[in-house]
Amino acid sequence: MAVELTNRCNLRCGMCPMNKLGRPDADMPWWLVEKVAGEFARLGIRVNWLHEMGEPLLYPRLPEAIDLFPGCSVSTNAMLLDEEMGRRLLQTSLRRIRLCVDTVNPRVYPFIRRGGIFEEVVANIRTFLELSKGKDIVVEIQRMITTQTAHESVRDFQEFFGLDRYPQAKVIEKTCEPLDTSDETPLHESFYGCFQGYPFAWFIVLADGRVTHCCYDAHGQQCIGDLKTQSVEEILESAKIPAMMEAFKAKDWGTLPRCGECYKNAEAKPPFYDFLIASGRRLERSLPVVPLARRLINR
Ligand SMILES: C[S@@+](CC[C@H](N)C(=O)[O-])C[C@H]1O[C@@H](n2cnc3c(N)ncnc32)[C@H](O)[C@@H]1O
Ligand code: SF4
Repeated sequence: MAVELTNRCNLRCGMCPMNKLGRPDADMPWWLVEKVAGEFARLGIRVNWLHEMGEPLLYPRLPEAIDLFPGCSVSTNAMLLDEEMGRRLLQTSLRRIRLCVDTVNPRVYPFIRRGGIFEEVVANIRTFLELSKGKDIVVEIQRMITTQTAHESVRDFQEFFGLDRYPQAKVIEKTCEPLDTSDETPLHESFYGCFQGYPFAWFIVLADGRVTHCCYDAHGQQCIGDLKTQSVEEILESAKIPAMMEAFKAKDWGTLPRCGECYKNAEAKPPFYDFLIASGRRLERSLPVVPLARRLINR
């Protein structure tokens, strides 16, 4: 589950579709944030993230929004995480924040996080680490694995930020997925199949209230409903999802252009690879394979 408070962003990272976002800039109106929060609370639904695209720290009422979605996490490029913002966030119910610096190499940073200022982000992270010391929050520092950062290690990050002094913090690693990014990479051609393993793995409320079923649907091409005018139940029970599932089985990419992107390189990987990914995702639903693997890697 995710709620995109804003799709505006102060950066244009190379790996992110933000650069060519096919939706107008929007902040979620406050009445809609309250409506979504009310619906989710009534149904006992927990939100994982307060973003799809965009930078959550640009949302003017972020601290209040956090408190409306108990258990949510925030991922940020940390450009706006100055001391005041850090203190405000620490006064909320937020229990996990992800700080996306991606590399500890100042020469590589501008190629990944375009528009960001390495020194400011590093200073903000260091300040936040101090502020959050002893608080009930997990601070994740993101390392993005790309060809430019392949030689860096989790230990480099731990040493760079002195994490032995901050038990609340850890480094998490993320691979740069070659889908629908601003930069064309050789990886673009080497994937075939549903990256989620199952097309209806997500329920993401975009800033304008429309709901998409896939976290790769950055442009909102495959919306299943609209929370401005519908309830969660109305969306889940509408004829839209079964119709989309039929289109998916028929590989009708005219109806499902976002899925078509994931399936465009039929030559690149045989459907067996697709099957393997789907099995992996199924396994992951019953066994927490990814968190276990991360824990192992991040030891
Ligand atoms: C879209 S951003 C939105 C939140 C915030 N602006 C940030 O950068 O954390 C959320 C996450 O998506 C990641 N991301 C962007 N493009 C990606 C890609 N092509 N593959 C994998 N992760 C990607 C970013 O690194 C970030 O961790
Ligand atoms: S990854 Fe985050 S910070 Fe970078 S352009 Fe995308 S939304 Fe903005």
